[in-house]
Amino acid sequence: MKPGTIMASKTPSTVTKLIASFALLTGTCAAFSQQVNIICSVQAEHCNMISTVYARVTGAKVNMSLKGSGEALAQLIAEKDNPKTDIWYGGTGDPHLQAAEMGLSLEYKSPSLPQLYPWAQQQAQQSGYKTVGIYTGPLGFGYNPELLAKKKLAVPKSWADLIKPEYKGDIQVANPASSGTAYTMLATLVQLMGEDKAFDYLKALHKNISQYTRSGTGPIKAVARGETAVSISFVHDGPGEKMQGFPVETITPSEGTGAEIGSMSIMKGARNLEAAKKFYEWAITPAAQEMAAAAKQFQLPSNKATKVDPRIPDFKKIKFINYDYAKYGASAERRRLIAKWEKDVNSLPR
Ligand code: G6P
Repeated sequence: MKPGTIMASKTPSTVTKLIASFALLTGTCAAFSQQVNIICSVQAEHCNMISTVYARVTGAKVNMSLKGSGEALAQLIAEKDNPKTDIWYGGTGDPHLQAAEMGLSLEYKSPSLPQLYPWAQQQAQQSGYKTVGIYTGPLGFGYNPELLAKKKLAVPKSWADLIKPEYKGDIQVANPASSGTAYTMLATLVQLMGEDKAFDYLKALHKNISQYTRSGTGPIKAVARGETAVSISFVHDGPGEKMQGFPVETITPSEGTGAEIGSMSIMKGARNLEAAKKFYEWAITPAAQEMAAAAKQFQLPSNKATKVDPRIPDFKKIKFINYDYAKYGASAERRRLIAKWEKDVNSLPR
């Protein structure tokens, strides 16, 4: 995902339809004109969609830049004394919790919180109402069945499978310093195996990794395009690639896996605070959350009334660990684990 600025200019037909239906639902159209500065940590299609629709529906000027979860946090830390961002939309929840703990985000208790699933409300409670869950999604593997068949490789079904020597050079995952997806993997493995065994595992996995990408979705895009056979990815990032005609499937590991609680925060010192609150309220409505699927993004949205697209992963079929969001979203723990991964794993030869 590349940083950039989107000035809400495209008018695809889905967007037009969504604007019309959203305006009908809310009875709002160009009711106020404000500016809101957003860092968006989901995929570009999703960021474009919400930016365009929100601007058209409300008349607000949306300045949006795209950054992975870890990179977004780094920018917000850097601009702490002179904040330029009003809203941080999306990306994995751990760095949002870290931002809350570091005093970068503002306490805001939305009156709509009871409309959200318990996991989304819990994310808010755990942060002292400085962030909120906007979606969730399971971590797993992406694979290219055509490439696996060509290389005579089996579909990996477990974390244990990924460290088998036959997958050497055929696996991609992102770098946990820049990517929330990869940090979710790191924290999941530590919780699943215990820290020592998890780091032994990561060192073994390192031998099979062809590339650590900056963005969490880089690896599944590489799988889709036949550049690598396997990725460690959120499984909800698979269907969007498949819809574009690419041969990509997903699976979750048999030992168990973690899930992200994609989050949203209002930044402390936001220059456009009222506009930020309006965007925040809008972003947790079912009408706004249904736009993710229209943009080919298939996380489970946090509002209980949001329509659930059939391509959204079925959580009942997945074995989950009991992910400790408070512990692994704590500043010191997240920093420590990433630094340890850099030192003990990423620095090793492959
Ligand atoms: C994708 C997923 C999101 C996730 C995000 C994290 O956009 O669809 O659910 O929150 O990646 O991105 P990152 O680059 O931080 O791993």
